[in-house]
Amino acid sequence: MPSSLEPAEFIQDFTHFEQHVARLIHKAGWTVETAKPNQPGYDLVIKKGNLTGAVQVKWLKGNVTAPQLLKFADYLDSPEGKQFNFGWFITTKGFGGPALALIRGWDRNTKIRCAIAYENKIVEVNGPEETEETIKTDPPKKVYFGVFTCKGGVGKTTVAGHLAGALALQGFNIALVDLDPEQNLQKLVGDGVFVPNPKGVGTTIQVFDGMDWHEDAARDCQIVICDCSPALERNPIELIQKFDYCIIPTTLNPLGINKHGKVIQGTVQEIRKINKIAHLFVVVNNFKDPGIKRFQLMKQVYFGAYQQISKIDDKFHCIDPEEVCIRSSDLLYYWGIHILENPDNPGSRLAFDLIGGRCHPREDFIKLADYIETKAGLGVLRNN
Ligand SMILES: Nc1ncnc2c1ncn2[C@@H]1O[C@H](COP(=O)(O)OP(=O)(O)OP(=O)(O)O)[C@@H](O)[C@H]1O
Ligand SMILES: [Mg+2]
Repeated sequence: MPSSLEPAEFIQDFTHFEQHVARLIHKAGWTVETAKPNQPGYDLVIKKGNLTGAVQVKWLKGNVTAPQLLKFADYLDSPEGKQFNFGWFITTKGFGGPALALIRGWDRNTKIRCAIAYENKIVEVNGPEETEETIKTDPPKKVYFGVFTCKGGVGKTTVAGHLAGALALQGFNIALVDLDPEQNLQKLVGDGVFVPNPKGVGTTIQVFDGMDWHEDAARDCQIVICDCSPALERNPIELIQKFDYCIIPTTLNPLGINKHGKVIQGTVQEIRKINKIAHLFVVVNNFKDPGIKRFQLMKQVYFGAYQQISKIDDKFHCIDPEEVCIRSSDLLYYWGIHILENPDNPGSRLAFDLIGGRCHPREDFIKLADYIETKAGLGVLRNN
């Protein structure tokens, strides 16, 4: 007896799926021809009246990725592809976040149409049906992170950008909202970053100016990370109220330690006037190993500064730098050098390059994301 996990016959392999797609299109009144074996660019040619279309049939176990779609779009724009009035990209399962982001970015005049073939019908994802449905349904709730401290220059932008990277590596699409008038995030990752995932669909980090921010502009993003202005009153209050988590970066050095303690107590008081629900995490950034003796001494003062807050606020977490901290690194220090190197076309990137097979920032930020999840969960994203 076939197990219920066995795929339906029409999607069991490419050949069955291609024939199935051809039958469905034929039923809709088109003539369908199969392309020559090894024909690059398309699998079927379909004709009705004076319209000719190229169909790419994609048999996939997972979602379509953005590069797969872009390849077909490029083919349709090539001299050979120009013979077709339109192209139809038809797949088995669905379209991943970045691919959907591409599709939504194309306007109605685009030559490419995208669809999923089911047992009895083909459903377009950029057709009127989908658009209507998209307007009707409420988008799922997003999880909000703020990166905030009343002090300037301690790593808010660095932490916001790379925490986004660590969460994107986990498969979430991220919206980074730049609330700082300096607009550093927009300079550094203005065009957004695509984070490939060798085992699945890649994800995107998109950057938004705080002035233009609207949830509908990032319907496919599950997580929103706000890089705040150090003056709390300059950040939109309705965004601060939405924070589920707030990351407060600080540094651990003898001269600053008492002052930073006061800054953070002030920061927590300010946030709590507006938002009582967010989990607050103090994390040491730019950490340089001072040796065991000095470290123990500073750690004592560091924890001492926040003990009072911990006693009265059960959502305040002072992260032990021995467990998680963001180490000082040249990669983070020189993050942004690409803007100086290539000012006309700066591109967007994170300081996640491997050096000798390792990358401290990547490891540290993944550990930070993990710590937050262990202590506070990731809310609606993981159903807890
Ligand atoms: N872990 C780190 N290792 C090395 N350099 C770092 C690290 N974190 C931050 N820096 C450097 O410190 C400087 C300040 O960082 P960043 O701009 O992220 O701080 P900020 O709090 O956003 O500042 P502002 O208040 O001006 O917005 C930058 O030059 C950055 O490269
Ligand atoms: Mg900043």
